[in-house]
Amino acid sequence: MKILAIETSCDETAISVLEIKGGPKNPRFKVLSNVISSQVKLHAKWGGVVPSLAKREHQKNLVPVLIKSLKESKLLKSKIKSKKSKLQIKIQNELNKILERELELLRRVKIFLRNYEAPKIDLIVVTNGPGLEPALWVGINFAKALAIAWNKPLFAANHMEGHLFSVFLQEKQRREFPISNFQFPIITLLVSGGHTELILIKNWLKYKMLGQTRDDAAGEAFDKVAKMLNLGYPGGPAINRIAEAAGGHRMSFKLPRPMLNSKDYDFSFSGLKTAVLYKLKEIRNLTPEIKAIFCKEFQQAVTDVLISKTMRAVKEFKAKTVILGGGVAANKELRKQFQKKIAITNDRKYLLNLLMPEIKFTGDNAAMIALAAYFRFIKKKGPADWQALKADGNLKIF
Ligand code: KG4
Ligand code: ZN
Repeated sequence: MKILAIETSCDETAISVLEIKGGPKNPRFKVLSNVISSQVKLHAKWGGVVPSLAKREHQKNLVPVLIKSLKESKLLKSKIKSKKSKLQIKIQNELNKILERELELLRRVKIFLRNYEAPKIDLIVVTNGPGLEPALWVGINFAKALAIAWNKPLFAANHMEGHLFSVFLQEKQRREFPISNFQFPIITLLVSGGHTELILIKNWLKYKMLGQTRDDAAGEAFDKVAKMLNLGYPGGPAINRIAEAAGGHRMSFKLPRPMLNSKDYDFSFSGLKTAVLYKLKEIRNLTPEIKAIFCKEFQQAVTDVLISKTMRAVKEFKAKTVILGGGVAANKELRKQFQKKIAITNDRKYLLNLLMPEIKFTGDNAAMIALAAYFRFIKKKGPADWQALKADGNLKIF
């Protein structure tokens, strides 16, 4: 089967086509296309994502991104001349209703549908949360419009579940996914711009939230600290890059590791951000060298907390697999230190498997959304009435 997935939960407009071969017990996946149009440069001017701007940009970008994605998947087919500009009145009326709040998108969708045939896909999937609701709505309404016009089923996917499944994506090859080989329990750490979640998975789609952030998400802390250091938005990649320049140098002081020793699995990063702010005030001359050492120490503080809590959960629940996902999973130091930690944990009696997404799939993309939805689709765990599908900014993973 072929799934077309749409992701607009934040500042990336993403559409992907995923092909799945084999049965549900042993599916093989191939990413036919994974198109992402990032609005990062636009939001960078404001120091973070502006929801109304994101909504406007998604409306502008969705149709071009769809065309590109279908083209790359070899599924884009122009209508023959005589069939062009014919859209059934009934469909036009439905589109007018679905996209009554996205008039710019409505105009573009109509032009698109007049010019192109319905592609040979089996299912449309869209992220319905968590994320920015104005942004999510654009994707949802677009997906509904396509489902009506093409007469295809529509399914919803949870953005964080997408990050979780992103570890099974591979850019080039068709990825074997031997479900039966998978070792439970799994402990998964999802770290993005909006979330920091530690989840226990006892079986597919059976989640237990062990802990989450009480204030800022890990990615958000990177973004805020980067702002203090004038490194622009998004901050994670910049801090990661600059910290590398510090080499073996360290700060003469240590930043706090918030909640490192708390008995629960919650996180808190806002105190760390405040500690950075105070320390920065003490430094008179912030040379590039000191900035690099500062970035390194901040990154290490976050890494220490994330790894320590994850490993404690691994121990308590006797996990056999660890999954790391989300935008912050692109952090090279976090990846390296996780690998190291797990390597020293492993011995002949206890083998812990670490799964991390390819860097390309760490940030927001629609291939992960297609994959997450596929697992719900085969287990028939989806919305009964997709026409009533709503955006839910705080959608939970279970
Ligand atoms: O998952 P994601 O792309 O979007 C959300 O769902 O939020 O995550 C974006 C977050 C941003 O806060 C960004 O600064 C952070 O991921 N990020 C990183 C790195 N690359 C992206 N954080 C640390 N190190 C990185 N290399
Ligand atoms: Zn994300």
